[in-house]
Amino acid sequence: MKVALITGITGQDGAYLSEYLIKKGYEVHGIKRRSSLFNTDRIDHLYQDPHVQDRSLILHYGDLTDSMNLTRIIEEVQPDEIYNLAAMSHVKVSFDTPEYTANADGLGVLRILEAVRLLRLVEKTRIYQASTSELYGLVQEVPQRETTPFYPRSPYAAAKLYAYWITVNYREAYGMHASNGILFNHESPLRGETFVTRKVTRAVARIALGMYTKMFMGNLSSRRDWGHAKDYVRAMYAILQQEKPSDYVIATGVMTTIRDFIRKAFGEIGIKVDFKGKCTEEVAIVTAMDKIRFGETVGEEYIQGMEKRIGEEVVGVDPQYFRPTEVEMLIGDASKAREQLGWEPKYGIDALIKDMMESDLLLMKKDAYIKKGGYRALNYFE
Ligand code: NAP
Ligand code: GDD
Repeated sequence: MKVALITGITGQDGAYLSEYLIKKGYEVHGIKRRSSLFNTDRIDHLYQDPHVQDRSLILHYGDLTDSMNLTRIIEEVQPDEIYNLAAMSHVKVSFDTPEYTANADGLGVLRILEAVRLLRLVEKTRIYQASTSELYGLVQEVPQRETTPFYPRSPYAAAKLYAYWITVNYREAYGMHASNGILFNHESPLRGETFVTRKVTRAVARIALGMYTKMFMGNLSSRRDWGHAKDYVRAMYAILQQEKPSDYVIATGVMTTIRDFIRKAFGEIGIKVDFKGKCTEEVAIVTAMDKIRFGETVGEEYIQGMEKRIGEEVVGVDPQYFRPTEVEMLIGDASKAREQLGWEPKYGIDALIKDMMESDLLLMKKDAYIKKGGYRALNYFE
């Protein structure tokens, strides 16, 4: 049985990757941070009681900023594969927490590489580093491939730049099987709620259910190459199965603006929105409704409420979401991954949005039910 250690197991990718590896017969160990609330929602379906024998999922408390803790866990687990997915992964937040981001996202992987070296696990343990298309930042070439020069545009990207190169350096210096997956944006129903796609699908669902009136967004013109996280964790695994370590771009090769993502998310439930105005004055207005589609996707009982919104604004711009330096466009060329890993994405942008909208509609209906007192009272003193 192969043993994998995943840092960031409670995150979006950690959840999909653990399920994928457990299905392949791995014993999966994950590092999670201590938190005052349960933070394992995304992997609860995989959780096994510690008293179960031969568990396939084992969690350890830890933090990427604590080298001794990482070294101890790696020594205990003796992993065949380490997937370093843990990071302060929000680009905008990295401008507020630059030092912490450098520590966790930059030095974090150094601590892992060094632990593997000092524990004499170089021959046994393969390492995957979660690198990112953010490295390309102010893009120097379109589309971006493995040879495109980097130009980071945020503390997050600058930290990930160090992480990228220290991974390459340990590979070259010590012969480690250490690889970078340069993954372009990937999303899913498990995506964190403050990333743009999830913010949009949640808001569209709430607007459709009459729980919310208008969403406020940042730069509507930036463009991203969005894939589905399920496809991308397959690539992580494939990278570590290669005989030789290397770095790979993982992307769909299709680029969409935030504006079009919003249009498509509303379109998924039969609502047409049109954008008008410029810069901070830009808004989106509901201009038409396909009642049959809306009834099928959202529910007939919500048609009347939504019909009243025709002609009204549902999207506005709030400069608080602008970034001091923006990455305006990202589009990847994953030819190397296609040729060497045999990797192809199964989800296109429309299938991704469908998956996310379906999931958020269900979640929001449950949320509305709870707020009506369905599951439990929300007020602690009543
Ligand atoms: P995510 O949902 O934000 O998950 C990040 C994970 O890292 C969470 O489990 C988080 O724990 C954990 N973490 C944060 N700081 C930590 C620390 N100091 N010590 C230990 N764990 C820590 O991110 P994701 O979307 O799954 O992305 C996974 C990795 O791929 C990240 O490194 C990200 O930067 C990178 N990446 C993501 C994308 C993308 O589009 N999703 C693209 C390229 C690269 P909590 O649950 O406790 O917060
Ligand atoms: N989050 C957010 N919220 N982004 C917005 C908003 C908003 O209200 N309005 C517009 N945007 C724009 C951002 O300015 C950015 O250009 C784009 O939407 C995508 O933002 P995010 O979804 O926050 O993702 P990201 O591209 O900055 O970073 C993600 O992808 C990287 C890979 O390229 C993260 O997952 C990173 O961890 C990852 O490395």
